[in-house]
Amino acid sequence: MDRRRRSLGCGAVSVDSAQLVSLPKIADPRGNLSFIEAGRPVPFAIKRSYWIYDVPGGETRGGHAYRSLQECIIALSGSFDVHLDDGERKRRVSLNRSYLGLVVPRLLWRRLDNFSTNAVCLILASDYYDAADYIRDYAEFLREVRV
Ligand code: TYD
Repeated sequence: MDRRRRSLGCGAVSVDSAQLVSLPKIADPRGNLSFIEAGRPVPFAIKRSYWIYDVPGGETRGGHAYRSLQECIIALSGSFDVHLDDGERKRRVSLNRSYLGLVVPRLLWRRLDNFSTNAVCLILASDYYDAADYIRDYAEFLREVRV
């Protein structure tokens, strides 16, 4: 077992495992079109979608991790930053394209900020809403990823 897996625990998830996926894009002078179908290209079955919008300047969303939920985050409109943290390393991904999805595995702390005016953040999730799946306390998150 390498040093990183010892410090983060056997089920460790690295910030590198979050993946940007390209969604199909049908370019058209009348306006572009993108789509997502069951099983492709988002690599999990989508059970729920929600969106974040009308974010006041300077506000932050997220600030938690999920014990089992996977998500795909898309900047449908405008731009924002996603800050990922695996308990050891941090990574920032700026999203500003409607045809790119950021697939975020379980057990990564995430925070979204730097929303542009009129940004719309669409999130596709692998399961129904479950408050018990959230880890909202960062110290608790560190304890769980280091088990
Ligand atoms: P939360 O997930 O904390 O928001 P974010 O991480 O985007 O900042 O959710 C905010 C509130 O909305 C919280 O009271 C739970 C509720 N909620 C639902 O009822 N259903 C959902 O699908 C989501 C994502 C949140």
